[in-house]
Amino acid sequence: DKGGWSSFMAKEINDQPDAVENTVRGRVSERGVEIPELTALGDERLAGIDRVIIIACGTAAYAGQVGAYAIEQWARVPVDVQLSHEFRYRDPVLSERTMVISVSQSGETMDTLMAVKYALERGVTTVSVCNTQSATIPRESDAAVYTHAGPEVAVASTKAFVAQITALYLIGLHLGRVRGTLSAEDQARAVEQFETLPAKVREAVDTHDQIAQLAHWMADSRSVLFLGRHVGFPIALEGALKLKEIAYIHAEGFAAGELKHGPIALIDHGQPVFVLVPSPRTSPLMHSKVVSNIQEIRARGARVIAIVEVGDTAVLPFADDVIRLPLADPFFEPLLQVIPLQWFALELSTAKGLDVDQPRNLAKSVTVE
Ligand code: F6R
Repeated sequence: DKGGWSSFMAKEINDQPDAVENTVRGRVSERGVEIPELTALGDERLAGIDRVIIIACGTAAYAGQVGAYAIEQWARVPVDVQLSHEFRYRDPVLSERTMVISVSQSGETMDTLMAVKYALERGVTTVSVCNTQSATIPRESDAAVYTHAGPEVAVASTKAFVAQITALYLIGLHLGRVRGTLSAEDQARAVEQFETLPAKVREAVDTHDQIAQLAHWMADSRSVLFLGRHVGFPIALEGALKLKEIAYIHAEGFAAGELKHGPIALIDHGQPVFVLVPSPRTSPLMHSKVVSNIQEIRARGARVIAIVEVGDTAVLPFADDVIRLPLADPFFEPLLQVIPLQWFALELSTAKGLDVDQPRNLAKSVTVE
C-alpha cells in the first residue's frame, strides 16, 4: 500500500523519520547504547576484536562506508569496507579476533551470503545488519542486529539505507562502551543526537518541493556529479547510484579532494554538481576545503547545488542553488544529506516518465552470484 503516495519510493522516503526512530528504539538509554544481540556474544569477545570488515553491495556498502568512520572513531578498531563479491578473491587476512559485519536490506543477497559463509568457515565473528526478519544472512550469522525500517518495496533503497547507518552507529557505540574507548562525553552527545534525529530527518524530507523545482529544469541533464568529504563521500556515491538506477542518467560521486587529481577535467559550462558541505561550526577545516572546491568548479562553469547546514552563508556567493538542512553533529549529517538526493533521483525519474519503483534490468533482491 503506497499510503496515498505516487510511488513506493516516495512513501519510503517519507517513512525515514520512523525508520531511524524504530531502529534506535530500545537500544539507547542514559547508560548509553546496548544491543542485546551483541551483549549475547560476550563482552570479552567484543573487547578482543582487533579488526572489523564490513561487507555489503550497492547502497548497503555505502551505508557501510559511512558506518566505518563512526565505528573506527568510537571503538578505536581499524575498520574497512569491502564489496561482498570481491571479499574472498583477495584471500583476506582473517582471524578469530576479526569481526565481519554484513549489511543487507533483504538478507538474501547471494554475494553477501557467500562472503559471510567464507568468514564463518574461518572462525570470524559475524554480525548481520539486516532489515528482513529471519532472512538467510541473519540466520547464518553469530548475531543479528535488525534495522526496523519496515518492508521496503521500491527497488531503489532509501529508508533501509538510513536505518543501516543508524544500526552501524549503534554497533560502534556499543563496541566503544564495552571496549572502554568511548568517552562519556561522546556517548552523551550521540545519545542526544539520536533523540533529536527523527525530527531533523523530517525536516530533510520537507526539502521535497525545493528539489522538485530543481529537478524540473534539470530533466535533460546528461550527467550529474556529486562531491563530498569524509562521511559526505559515500553520500555522494549514493546520490549518484540513485540517479543511475531510477533516472538512467550517468552520474558519478567523488571525494571532493580527488577533484584536482583528475575529475575536474569533466567540468564544463553548465555541468550540474551537487556538493555536500560539512558544517562550518563543527568541521571548520573540512568546510573551508569544500568551499574552495566549490569555487574551483564554479570558475570552470559548473552549476553548483550546495547542500549545507542552515546558517552557512559562506557558500552563498558561489552556489546556484542552496538546500538547507538542520544542524547536526558530523556523523549525523549524512542521514540528512542523502534525503534531498533521493528526492532528486525520484523527481528526475518521474520527469522522464519512468517507473520509479521498478527500474529496468534490476530486481529488489539479487539472489544469484
Ligand atoms: C540500491 C539498491 C542495491 C542494493 C544492493 C544490496 O538502491 O537497492 O544497490 O542496495 O543490491 O541489497 P541488499 O541490501 O538487500 O543486500
